[in-house]
Amino acid sequence: MSVRVVIGAQWGDEGKGKVVDMFAEEADVVARYQGGANAGHTIVVGDRKYVLHLIPSGILHDNTVCVIGNGVVIDPAALMEEIELLKSFGVSIEGRLKISHKAHLIMPYHKLLDQLTEREQKIGTTGRGIGPSYIDKYNRSGIRIVDLLDRVRLEEQLREGIRQKNDWFRKVYDAPELDVEKIVAEYLDFDQQMDDYITDTTSFINEAWRSGKTILAEGAQGALLDIDHGTYPFVTSSSPTSGGACTGLGLPPTAITKVTGIVKAYCTRVGAGPFPTELEDETGEKLRALGAEFGATTGRPRRCGWLDLFALRYSAMINGIDEIVLTKLDVLNDFEEIKVCTGYNVNGEPVKYFPSDCGTLEKVEPIYETLPGWNYELRSGESFDDLPSETRNYIRKIEEEVGAPVRYLGIGPGRDEIIVGDLEKVG
Ligand code: GDP
Ligand code: IMO
Ligand code: MG
Repeated sequence: MSVRVVIGAQWGDEGKGKVVDMFAEEADVVARYQGGANAGHTIVVGDRKYVLHLIPSGILHDNTVCVIGNGVVIDPAALMEEIELLKSFGVSIEGRLKISHKAHLIMPYHKLLDQLTEREQKIGTTGRGIGPSYIDKYNRSGIRIVDLLDRVRLEEQLREGIRQKNDWFRKVYDAPELDVEKIVAEYLDFDQQMDDYITDTTSFINEAWRSGKTILAEGAQGALLDIDHGTYPFVTSSSPTSGGACTGLGLPPTAITKVTGIVKAYCTRVGAGPFPTELEDETGEKLRALGAEFGATTGRPRRCGWLDLFALRYSAMINGIDEIVLTKLDVLNDFEEIKVCTGYNVNGEPVKYFPSDCGTLEKVEPIYETLPGWNYELRSGESFDDLPSETRNYIRKIEEEVGAPVRYLGIGPGRDEIIVGDLEKVG
């Protein structure tokens, strides 16, 4: 009986897809608990690359049932496209996908609003309608999956929702109105397509947990993009932190047995917002090129920088990270020296806690320690003991600063490109 929550410990794109796929080999249930199709989780199997946006990253293992929990906001068009793509790759979905009837829907007006507000707000969102859909949820005016089941009521809700938003588009943005009839027809059709998957996932997952099944909760985005704890306002509109798994799935906090933090061996960020260790020079470009740092959802180049251990310590605190999976360590294979940030100075004085306002975060000066690189190609099948002392030193530094053991090392995008630590020795 176990519930392991896998979270991104930085600003997203840490390699959650690959890691969840790895753990899913021994899981019964894999569940997404927040976010939506803003996520892009990559799994590479042989020469095939799967990028999942809404469907949990356990779907490639037949032994799992995949759950899209109540905390997720679902764009039915994106979901259907993803299901069709997986089917075309020969992945069987039937009986293996369960969608919470309490999850909220993303409507075409949410996507349009996301794009229109972005003109002024400049958060650098993915444009997938995530923020506007959560706004309606918290405003208690959202349309939920369960509403798809009552066609008459759905039609009423859709017409009212579109009418209100059209009013808004016209008055505030001078934007063209959305076609009510087209959207109503489209969503009534989704109702039929999604019917087989819609269920009470809260009861399903609780029964699975109580009957001793192994459950993996898959976070999207990352802790520093959390609506409460991230670098607000440059955040997403949900709770990617481990606590989000409880509200986003309806599992009690006492069910969680382990929190696995996915940490990229350096830092990246897509979109706007403070990034103290960002490298806007050729070292940053080298990281981007070697790490193929381009968004899995939008294709945007990711901003790159050195590993920020100060931010990571904060992330470990708010998530309760029990163990670390250190990904993309191979990207650092050929650096003479590698820097890590261990603290921030403001006006020459070290700050005690991770700043909560972006104004301060924008002006902090990172305090760096320089560690020697290893100039060595890490290979699967090696043990932690076989690694060059410089690599072990880097890992040890992370463990010390974060206060959690590094149990797995990602050394390439492929499914098997992972080094598993000796659980007795590490930490
Ligand atoms: P996610 O959103 O956290 O699932 O991460 P993404 O899929 O958006 O981005 C991670 C990228 O790094 C993907 O292209 C992965 O295939 C790739 N990747 C994952 N782990 C490793 C690793 O250990 N080494 C390398 N070189 N690439 C990795
Ligand atoms: P995965 O799950 C990296 C970022 C966007 C933007 C901010 C708000 O693949 O790690 P949103 O569309 O959510 O309103 O955008 O959050 N963002 C991500 N960055 N990885 C992600 O997901 C992200 N999802 C959203 O770039 O800065
Ligand atoms: Mg991603």
